[in-house]
Amino acid sequence: MYAIDHEDLGTPASLSSESVTLSIDGMPITVPAGTSILRAAALAGNRIPKLCATDSLKAFGSCRLCLVEIEGRKGYPASCTTQVADGMNVHTRTEKLAALRRGVMELYVSDHPLDCEGCPADTHCELQDMAAVVGVRDTPYASGGAVHAGAVRDASNPYFTFDPSLCIACSRCVRACDETQSTLALTIDGRGFASRIVASQDESFLASECVSCGACVEACPTAALSEKSLATLGQPDRTVTTTCGYCGVGCSLNAEARDETVVRMVPNRKGGANGGHACVKGRFAYGYASHPDRVTTPMIRRRITDPWLPVTWEVAIAHAAREFKRLQAKYGRDSIGGITSSRCSNEETFLVQKLVRAGFGNNNVDTCARVCHSPTGYGLKHTLGESAGTQAFTSVMKCDVIMLIGANVTEGHPVFGSQMKRRLREGARLIVVDPRAIDVVRTPHVEASHHLQLKPGTNVAVMNAIAHVIVTEGLVKEEFALGRCEPESWHRWKAFVSRPDNSPEALEAVTGVPAAELRAAARLYGRAANAAIYYGLGVTEHSQGTSMVMAIANLAMATGNFGREGVGVNPLRGQNNVQGSCDMGSFPHEFSGYRHCSDAAVRGLFERHWGVSLATEPGLRIPNMFEAALDGSFKGLYVQGEDLAQSDPNTQHVTAALSALECLVVQDLFINETAKYAHVFLPGSSFLEKDGTFTNAERRISPVRKVLNPPAGLQDWEITQLLANALGYPMNYSHPREIMAEVAALTPTFAGVSYDKLDRLGSLQWPCNDRAPEGTPTMHVGEFVRGKGRFYVTEYVPTDERTTARYPLILTTGRVLTQYNVGAQTRRTANVVWHDEDRLEIHPGDAEARGIADGDWVGVASRAGETVLRATVTTRVHPGVVYTTFHFPESGANVITTDNSDWATNCPEYKVTAVEVVKVDQPSEWQRRFREYDRHQRRLTPSADVDHA
Ligand code: SF4
Ligand code: SF4
Ligand code: SF4
Ligand code: FES
Repeated sequence: MYAIDHEDLGTPASLSSESVTLSIDGMPITVPAGTSILRAAALAGNRIPKLCATDSLKAFGSCRLCLVEIEGRKGYPASCTTQVADGMNVHTRTEKLAALRRGVMELYVSDHPLDCEGCPADTHCELQDMAAVVGVRDTPYASGGAVHAGAVRDASNPYFTFDPSLCIACSRCVRACDETQSTLALTIDGRGFASRIVASQDESFLASECVSCGACVEACPTAALSEKSLATLGQPDRTVTTTCGYCGVGCSLNAEARDETVVRMVPNRKGGANGGHACVKGRFAYGYASHPDRVTTPMIRRRITDPWLPVTWEVAIAHAAREFKRLQAKYGRDSIGGITSSRCSNEETFLVQKLVRAGFGNNNVDTCARVCHSPTGYGLKHTLGESAGTQAFTSVMKCDVIMLIGANVTEGHPVFGSQMKRRLREGARLIVVDPRAIDVVRTPHVEASHHLQLKPGTNVAVMNAIAHVIVTEGLVKEEFALGRCEPESWHRWKAFVSRPDNSPEALEAVTGVPAAELRAAARLYGRAANAAIYYGLGVTEHSQGTSMVMAIANLAMATGNFGREGVGVNPLRGQNNVQGSCDMGSFPHEFSGYRHCSDAAVRGLFERHWGVSLATEPGLRIPNMFEAALDGSFKGLYVQGEDLAQSDPNTQHVTAALSALECLVVQDLFINETAKYAHVFLPGSSFLEKDGTFTNAERRISPVRKVLNPPAGLQDWEITQLLANALGYPMNYSHPREIMAEVAALTPTFAGVSYDKLDRLGSLQWPCNDRAPEGTPTMHVGEFVRGKGRFYVTEYVPTDERTTARYPLILTTGRVLTQYNVGAQTRRTANVVWHDEDRLEIHPGDAEARGIADGDWVGVASRAGETVLRATVTTRVHPGVVYTTFHFPESGANVITTDNSDWATNCPEYKVTAVEVVKVDQPSEWQRRFREYDRHQRRLTPSADVDHA
């Protein structure tokens, strides 16, 4: 149902640069050519009554309420579907028009009586509003006119209902599903007044293709489609604009709240990343914040086998600080460290790395981005000069060819996925490079021109083969490459990819991609006027993740695809603030803005600002911390908002390392897997309970604003500040805006960022400084950040993780739309109705060879460990490849993944694990131990429950 305060101009804006002047009710007005009369009138403050039109959707012209008279034209055209013309004289308020509109409205009211009391849409229903505007209170038609009365209400979706008796058949929902979401789950069945809305093949919303994005609910002008929360919680009384805490799209949302409860989320139409759209997670799955599992009291314990003791903040912080000091006194300054979170804000992340560098006195800080996009940072910094994507999301609307590599965009980045599908339906061509047949390979009205279904682990070989075709067939932009890049590196790279051993034919057996298909895809990319590459963790989470990022940058430089809209290299970040956590200096070798800690000038700047001497050498990365914990030299760890025990590879190795620590401090919402090994638990705040900023995949810094009070009383930055002060390193911020001011003072790419500017502009894409005071949507215009782009030779080196007779299949991992990362949030929402377990996808041939049927329990064993999942037999995966998600701790997906990692960054090789799969009838040994430990930890936890959602 419609957002309360939105100024709806009726039809979308025209992008024409030509102007047209007309007269509406005697008032002259000038608007862009192509504007509808309805919108032109609205821009002049003249609201013509309307029902089926809304400015987020193309005009449809079905309700006949917006009729106008145009001098010199016969009849009464609909103003929403009639465009303005120079010299046109339009009348919108004649007696005849009023009578016609009343007649139309009376018909609507005959089908939808205005019994508004108790309706969730009461006070913001467009039908109610329009009936008042045209002066209709009742209908002269017999009540038998109510053709939709008595129709069965569909409450199958956990978040919204469809009540056909309130439907006025305006088709806004159908158009929203088509134009905004690109899912096309809805159709209109029947004709005229008797028409009705049907989901998929006349199924319930839950059983249909609907992905629960809520676009139809927002578009509906009545309560026919309505959030359940409005009926149960009542009307909100305040709205706070904030940013989604889930994925790296970074949708701007209006949180509508009442007291300490969010009633509903409405996507912000002015949101730079989402333009008024959201997905099932951001729009609906925020209930975890009020889940009874939230821990609301700090807790401490001496040993991890002891019961938790609830204590005050003072006691918990003093205990943690005392322990960290004790460990440093006993084992040395470098025996402790900290982990920042890509789920926390920029300000919180900045503060944790400051605590480690200035308070702990070492550089032992790392972030969960280590295990996802660290190769992006390294690869793009070395080739282009900046560790970030090059475009704004809207750039995709100017692409002619999109190459999508290792990113399941409609599941992982749903709002951007919808935008990409819109562009594809307009005619852009698509190349998918992925071991699985992801949704966009073939979906209604979208089909990839080429699906290069490579063997997991052969990305670099595929990219070298594509480059080979582009170079040897003369599809390069030599002038760009020579003019904008280092000539010597260009010549070296060209000679390398031209080698016969990099041809598609030579590599076909390695990659599994037919040479002819690969050649055709390369030609399509190489000949495009505007070609862009979008990629995800299927690129980075490999032993050659960095090589692949460099190979992508090479290809885009060789074809001149930088420095304008519609092109570029675009990493799709997984979590909400992966980009930001990296920008803020979370890696052990870098300060904020990606400046090395060994750079004396940079270090001096921080030393002067922070009033301490800083360590000159890079600190420990996460895997090194685990190794050091196991060898006894690393003893204490402060983990903010990250679940290492579930998200990092080789779980048994991780939990052994965590068990070896003498003081593990976990700051989180729930007793997650890592907290089961902790000595201090500090209850954190969700994105709804804090002020700060997140930075999304397009470098967009967006405001996060407090909607509710944190149940334990403190925002995360306040907890870090208390800990710093207890350790003897003073921090005295009174608001996160002061932390951002410090970031701006110390970080050239953030120099122009301030809360005042964010409030004024809504969001900002860095670099934001004197040269670009309002931010930088497109990077590398005119020249690369590093000056000349640099090509790197990317020799394909097969991973050590090979299939053998013992482990003949390759396991690769990914995510689903309705769950998020380790699932700690989404598992505590109704999203579990769509996905309540991780399953193993296996090809029918491989399943048959092992006697496995759909739904069977199967053991999945690698050289790292073994777990048990249920099988889904599907052709989405190739023979020889199996696939699973990792959203449920008990699935143990990371029990199987190994500790192989990227050569440059240690990003784990999640995407390639050699396994064997066999039919079983009982849990694995690890799962038995997991359950036992889980039960034990639950017994030790007083009020809050441990992570069992
Ligand atoms: S919720 Fe989204 S996907 Fe489902 S029918 Fe509505 S618009 Fe379509
Ligand atoms: S459900 Fe709502 S949006 Fe869809 S046709 Fe009916 S009234 Fe219009
Ligand atoms: S999860 Fe991502 S796509 Fe969905 S609403 Fe949040 S930011 Fe947007
Ligand atoms: S608003 Fe123009 S026909 Fe419905």
